[in-house]
Amino acid sequence: MSEDKHSEDKEMRFDRADLEDHEVQNIHSQVGREKEEPKEGFAFPPLIIVFMCMGLCLWAGFEISHSSGGFKWDVYDPDKKSTGKEVAKVYDPIKAGKRVYNNCIACHQANGMGVPGAFPPLAGSDWMGKSPDVLARIVIYGLSGEIVVNGETYNNVMTPLSNLSDKEVAAVLSYTRNAWGNQYSIVTEEEVAAVRAAVGSRSSPYTAAELLEQFPD
Ligand code: HEC
Repeated sequence: MSEDKHSEDKEMRFDRADLEDHEVQNIHSQVGREKEEPKEGFAFPPLIIVFMCMGLCLWAGFEISHSSGGFKWDVYDPDKKSTGKEVAKVYDPIKAGKRVYNNCIACHQANGMGVPGAFPPLAGSDWMGKSPDVLARIVIYGLSGEIVVNGETYNNVMTPLSNLSDKEVAAVLSYTRNAWGNQYSIVTEEEVAAVRAAVGSRSSPYTAAELLEQFPD
């Protein structure tokens, strides 16, 4: 039964292929008639396309204005002369000293208050106003024995921080002399270098008594 249908189909197809020329033209003209003719004139494009184009323009605008160096012709010029308007980075010993202070934090604490009975305070300490000669000696060579700070007596050992550079010692002292309400002049690298040159190598830490004798004021 199904085979019968099959052969019928074949026959029909054969018939169609066997059409006369005018019949083919007839069919074609029928098909052509059913298609809409293209019209002349303006048709609004689909909204989604319009929005996509707007989005693209917006993005491109941002992209160009962000990465064009302000449309200045000389931004990529390696030989560009300085206009003098750029701010030179100045070295701030107090800022630098805050980082070096990490070497002191374990004992004198972040707030500079030290630990009662063990580590004397640097905040408000009457020793902070002493000359850089005294302070640099304490940091580079250490301190031991009795010391009176703000009327309190301490008797402990501060290990020498001889591995710090002159610049770092100057920075950390500048910081401690201007932190937590302290207000003293900054200490320079040259002052610290002078101390190191004057003392040379020294194995035993200073004592407060020795420093007070050597630098009475
Ligand atoms: C290991 C703990 C320790 C560290 C680290 C330490 N100190 Fe001290 N510091 C002491 C002790 C203890 C004394 C008191 C010593 C004594 O009893 O003779 C002292 C005393 C001082 C004093 C004199 C007294 C005062 O309170 O003003 C100064 C100034 C000072 N230290 C600064 C520093 C600075 C700056 C650093 C970091 C670069 C530092 N110390 C790191 C333990 C320490």
